[in-house]
Amino acid sequence: MLDLPQRPRRNRKNELVRGWIRETTLTAGNLVYPLFIFNGGGRQPIRSMPGRDRLGQDALLDEIANARADGIRAVVLFPAVEESLKTRDGSEAWNPDGLVQRSIRAIKERFPEIFVITDVALDPYNSDGHDGIVSADGRILNDETVEALKLQALSQAQAGADMVAPSDMMDGRIGAIRQVLDQSGFTEVSILSYCAKYASGYYGPFRDALDSAPRFGDKKTYQMDPANVREALRELRLDEEEGADAVMVKPAGPYLDVIRLMREHTALPVAAYQVSGEYAMIKAASMNGWLEEKRIVLESLLGIRRAGASIIFTYYAREAARWLAD
Ligand code: PBG
Repeated sequence: MLDLPQRPRRNRKNELVRGWIRETTLTAGNLVYPLFIFNGGGRQPIRSMPGRDRLGQDALLDEIANARADGIRAVVLFPAVEESLKTRDGSEAWNPDGLVQRSIRAIKERFPEIFVITDVALDPYNSDGHDGIVSADGRILNDETVEALKLQALSQAQAGADMVAPSDMMDGRIGAIRQVLDQSGFTEVSILSYCAKYASGYYGPFRDALDSAPRFGDKKTYQMDPANVREALRELRLDEEEGADAVMVKPAGPYLDVIRLMREHTALPVAAYQVSGEYAMIKAASMNGWLEEKRIVLESLLGIRRAGASIIFTYYAREAARWLAD
């Protein structure tokens, strides 16, 4: 016999005792379900995201009814915009009768209690596939873009969005959007800032889903370098000063250290986005029988929770909510 006064295994000896020392909880209330929408009816499969479809208006409402039955309370909308509506300034983004605006109204009419989050960025609407307006010589124009984002966010608030989520990474957009919302009487509409959004390879399937890949160059002059964390603290300080209600780290799994750092440096809720590439990896391995999907999904989400995120965007929201209820 070893002479061991300390035996950590005693605290793991049965489910009850394990429950006493469990530090992290994950519930359906932590999850936000991202939905891809298009102008039309029915569903269109997304090649690199098996199990997730682009949704027409009817399918969108069906999907939300089912997600609600699974325990999901919040959704975020991403539009696939017809090529003919894309312009250099992305002005379809603030069309009061645009796809997103119509969808928000339809959701709120049918499911007033569903919390609707919108994406603020020009990439689905912009003929260059960039989050901002591109100059003749190929630069992404910051201040001109912020003017456009204000119009976009305002039109989403007018349609009934509960929270707007700028994912564009322009400087100064949180303050500018807060100001225009407040001036227009939308003091109750929240802002979730994509605060530390990295220039990541994990967004590939999303750009497939929306056909929104940049038509030239990359997003490195606005999204962050995956090598950095100090820069995330700088973005955090600015977003706090400008009035963000919550701050996001994106992607999630490869950036758990950044989530933890944010958690330790702010009193705001921290969000994380388990992005399309993270979904695709788990799905592909599961379809091949190489990984057990349910265990991996719940473990990956618990890891994101443990790192410090209380809001998690995940394409697995519905399945996870169901599995958590089992
Ligand atoms: C763009 C945006 C992107 C995602 C959310 N908003 C892609 C990008 O920055 O190129 C990616 C989400 C995902 O991959 O699931 N504003």
